[in-house]
Amino acid sequence: RIHPVVLSGGAGVRLWPMSREKYPKQFLSLCSERSMLQDTVGRVANPALFATPMVVCNQEHRFVIAEQMRQIGLAATRIVLEPVGRNTAAATAVAALIVAEQDPDGLMLILPADHAIQDQDAFLQAIATAAAAAGTGQLTTFGIVPTAPETGYGYIRRGDALPGQDGAYRVAAFVEKPAREMAERYIAEKNFFWNSGMFLLPVRRYLAELERWEPAVLEAARAALAKGRSDLDFFRLDEEAFAAAPSTSIDYAVMERTDSAAVVPCSIGWTDVGAWSALWDIGDKDEGGNVCQGDAVAWDSTGCYIRSEDGALIALLGMTDTVVVGTEDAILVAAKDRAQDIKPLVEHLKKQG
Ligand code: GDD
Ligand code: MG
Repeated sequence: RIHPVVLSGGAGVRLWPMSREKYPKQFLSLCSERSMLQDTVGRVANPALFATPMVVCNQEHRFVIAEQMRQIGLAATRIVLEPVGRNTAAATAVAALIVAEQDPDGLMLILPADHAIQDQDAFLQAIATAAAAAGTGQLTTFGIVPTAPETGYGYIRRGDALPGQDGAYRVAAFVEKPAREMAERYIAEKNFFWNSGMFLLPVRRYLAELERWEPAVLEAARAALAKGRSDLDFFRLDEEAFAAAPSTSIDYAVMERTDSAAVVPCSIGWTDVGAWSALWDIGDKDEGGNVCQGDAVAWDSTGCYIRSEDGALIALLGMTDTVVVGTEDAILVAAKDRAQDIKPLVEHLKKQG
């Protein structure tokens, strides 16, 4: 059985002013009618293929998530609440322990809540391929053909084919967020893939790897579960116990270090919806290559992303590669090639109050 686990812990700062701490990007309808969280859970809402999905999130977001699950008819989704964020190693450790309790030989499919995937059939096909590899004990990753030397991703060097596993390869090297120069070198080498951030993990094996590389994370996760309690339909991890977990990602904690990782290269129309430029990438463009969403007009302009959220009309004249996002209480105007750098701006705004 494949147990889907959706991670919904990020803040999505680079999608300010729409993404806010109380209501981060995964809860917004940015790419479709549904929110990215709803799309993510919806993709695996097939009882023939998957067990009931689980969402691991911050406790602040419990009602938003419960409501969004109800809206798409998936109120049965299990919701596990973190009292504090301790990054993805701890979140996935908790999920693995929960899955292992009911299905020790089970596979867990880790899905970030904030990605867009355009080809559902290819996605399911990749999962089937990965499930076969994971079934042999491999921590299986999904490799995306890189298009630029991005430094915000993990890079996977493909090794030999896994014997008897069509479409799956050994991971020869996993490098999380390399420096620019290294990323450029990897891209030139051709046999590198981006790590998609999705993983298909045999839970028993994953817990053994955590025990080996980050025992403190596993110990904290165990204690947080043991001392945790059910609250309405939620499960609340114990705060003190969970806070003791070192804050590290699954990528640094396990994937860079393990000897038993596999990669399934796939082409599923994957986008990490990290910044406004990504929404321009996947958006429908007019003749000038502008993406206009809501009440927005781009006149004699090229390559712009315009989004009006509060009903006010936004009109651009003679602009190039510009992002304009208008909400009720804030308007962002930015150069599209600076869309990755919004974080320091938002921090500055916070300081100003
Ligand atoms: N529940 C929970 N708790 N979820 C979390 C936490 C947490 O403390 N921290 C992060 N998440 C969620 C995020 O919301 C996101 O959906 C996912 O886990 C991955 O975390 P990110 O913080 O977005 O990771 P990243 O983008 O820097 O890097 C990862 O994803 C890249 C692809 O987008 C890595 O796996 C990279 O190797 C990968 O290339
Ligand atoms: Mg991310």
